[in-house]
Amino acid sequence: MKIETRKEFPDFVAFVSEVDLKKDLQENQIKEIDDAINKFSVLVFRDQDINDDEQVRFTKYFGEIEASGNKSNITKAKDRRLSTDLADVSNLDKNNKPFTKDDPRRIFNLGNRLWHTDSSFKEIPAKYSLLSARNISKEGGNTEFADMRSAYDNLDAKTKQKVEDMVCEHSLIYSRQRLGFDMTRELSSEEIKNFTPVEQPLVRTNKLTNRKTIFLSSHIGKIRDWIRPDSMCFIDDLIEYATQSKFKYVHQWSQYDLIIWDNRQTMHRARAFDDLKENRDMRRTTVLGEEKLL
Ligand SMILES: [Fe+2]
Repeated sequence: MKIETRKEFPDFVAFVSEVDLKKDLQENQIKEIDDAINKFSVLVFRDQDINDDEQVRFTKYFGEIEASGNKSNITKAKDRRLSTDLADVSNLDKNNKPFTKDDPRRIFNLGNRLWHTDSSFKEIPAKYSLLSARNISKEGGNTEFADMRSAYDNLDAKTKQKVEDMVCEHSLIYSRQRLGFDMTRELSSEEIKNFTPVEQPLVRTNKLTNRKTIFLSSHIGKIRDWIRPDSMCFIDDLIEYATQSKFKYVHQWSQYDLIIWDNRQTMHRARAFDDLKENRDMRRTTVLGEEKLL
């Protein structure tokens, strides 16, 4: 296995080659990959033409799979295209046709274009995400990643002190409201209960590397003991700061790329493409975090 970085980001984003994810991996290979995720936060594997079962098997090397379901999207069980081991981040319905413009599922998925960390709105937030590009758009559809360790390191001392013990409320309701998605019109009160906000610390530490990160996300809607408008202004400023180009890697997808990212130390967002016409079939598996953070 070869793990290479690029000059501009010596400790962020590595390219992994000479490994075939269709095959079983040895323990030393799994450890090498896991160490690399902790060290580089984003790993890019090219030319991995895997199926769902192979993606699930590979994901399980790193922990328990986080089931995709009613707390993370609004797709009803009968309308799912993929098993609950996979989060469907395509623009497709179960007949493999693009969602129409007004489809609530499409509008809900547009939230992925905001900077976020996966499942930060769950009590135990996601550890790693693995995204496999089965079919890509001809244009657009990049994914961008921002390094929350460097962003933390570069904060001034006063801000570091200010954020040290900050606690934020995360919910899908907050990120979808930013886009004008009307939860109360589209969802029942029972469904809305699934999106009850959870609290997370704003600063966390990777126990393996001892590096601190800012646990930021557009799912944040409030800081504990702050009013909402002050919270939003502060969080938006922080997101703008933390996603400057010096902290950011832009990935232009090729078919069969697979990317693993560490949600504990990055944010990411999807970029626009012609989603009413083109089929972009991206399938995500997610490794469950190990513990509650508060
Ligand atoms: Fe995501």
